[in-house]
Amino acid sequence: MTKLPVLDVRALRKTFTLHLREGLQLPVLHGVSLSVHRGECLALVGPSGQGKSTLMKCLYGSYGADAGEILVHGADGRTLDLVSATPQQLLALRRRALAYVSQFLRVLPRVSALEVVAERAMTAGETDEQRARARAAELLSRLNLPQGLWGLPPATFSGGEQQRVNIARGFIAPAELLLLDEPTASLDALNRRVVVQLIEEAKARGTAIVGIFHDEEVREAVASRCHTMASAPAVSSHEHKEAA
Ligand SMILES: Nc1ncnc2c1ncn2[C@@H]1O[C@H](COP(=O)(O)OP(=O)(O)OP(=O)(O)O)[C@@H](O)[C@H]1O
Ligand SMILES: [Mg+2]
Repeated sequence: MTKLPVLDVRALRKTFTLHLREGLQLPVLHGVSLSVHRGECLALVGPSGQGKSTLMKCLYGSYGADAGEILVHGADGRTLDLVSATPQQLLALRRRALAYVSQFLRVLPRVSALEVVAERAMTAGETDEQRARARAAELLSRLNLPQGLWGLPPATFSGGEQQRVNIARGFIAPAELLLLDEPTASLDALNRRVVVQLIEEAKARGTAIVGIFHDEEVREAVASRCHTMASAPAVSSHEHKEAA
């Protein structure tokens, strides 16, 4: 029996309509097809503005698509097409199987960094709050976030500190599909290495990963394959093996 990929994107198209500019059409995704298996990390590459983050937001279900399919084949044997899924199906998938580290942390007032991270573990099925908090502390400490900050809301944290809270939140629960949008953009070399280790551990657990890594060193360390975004309408995206 051939194993299904965790993620199977077929002929995905998305055009933005700029209503404030007389309905100007901005085609961004022109028939993207790709797949990612368990334990694989696929890196999206292409120049700025080519639609990498847009694709990522489609894969998380934040953006709808105009055509195509985003099939997630779950470990429970069920398949969900994110393009046609109901909001309830999407939220359920996010809780149990889908994690997303966006470039910026969305902070809630008065919720501490430790709680922001532990909360994700609870949402994803952890029932013991103490265990969730201990795991959050372990991750924040691995990511070298000073302990004095753990009890504070991240709103006033530096860019790199917020990003580390975001990363801890993305990695605390075992995900079947993990989406990483420039997870190391504001990090120093030490913490970039920690993120590389976290990605390797997730791959070893069987997580399928799609990532955008501007840092070539990080990309080379973690990517199993690269997917180059197509640059012009009517030209379809293609995948290629990254040169060793
Ligand atoms: N919500 C939106 N409404 C309208 N246009 C958008 C929207 N989001 C993105 N775009 C446009 O879509 C194009 C692709 O943007 P996107 O952020 O996906 O690029 P990217 O490849 O991630 O670039 P970068 O490497 O700079 O992060 C850009 O031209 C952008 O202006
Ligand atoms: Mg982007």
